[in-house]
Amino acid sequence: MSELDPVLSNDTKAILGLQLPTDPRWINLAQISLEEVLTDHAYCEQKAATTCISIIQRYSEKEEMVTALAPIVTEEWGHFRLVLAELKKRGWKLGKQRRDEYVNALLQFCQKGGSEEGRFLDQLLLMAMIEARSCERFKRLSEGLNDAYLRKFYRRFMESEAGHYTLFISLAETYINKEKVRSRWEEWLAYEAEVMKSLEPRGDRMH
Ligand SMILES: [Fe+2]
Ligand SMILES: [Fe+2]
Repeated sequence: MSELDPVLSNDTKAILGLQLPTDPRWINLAQISLEEVLTDHAYCEQKAATTCISIIQRYSEKEEMVTALAPIVTEEWGHFRLVLAELKKRGWKLGKQRRDEYVNALLQFCQKGGSEEGRFLDQLLLMAMIEARSCERFKRLSEGLNDAYLRKFYRRFMESEAGHYTLFISLAETYINKEKVRSRWEEWLAYEAEVMKSLEPRGDRMH
């Protein structure tokens, strides 16, 4: 068990910084459309792996980051395979990828022009943000699903994504002034809360 567990159970907000907890209706919706949740989850893992590969390609000169992200690609792809196996075990199919409204909304917040450093920072904070929210969602699933096996299944994902969230923040701090990272992260948290507020909870989506 991760040492983060007790802290997470006591106060997700404190550890992840999220300003808005998931709408409690979401878990009930997810409960009745597990095949779709697993499909959406599988694609979240696939996107996490592919985005880490893109970051490695784009910032190949940042040696420390490349070294840190290379195993994350493997881990995220391993997650994809775990979800795929779970679908198969249940006689379900990996459906088509859906429009990811949550991530699309977050992408709007990424700095487009301006300094290279600012764009790089937003790339890392975007990843940290998605990891943090995914971690919170996995926690909800690990506590709220009726299926005991899936509760355990999601607990392991929760632990893993908590580690990724911290990794992306600390990578940002490796290359960029801590104060800058902190203040931009605060802006991300506020923006993400607005995004969450604007989205209807859907049982066929991870976010
Ligand atoms: Fe993952
Ligand atoms: Fe992750």
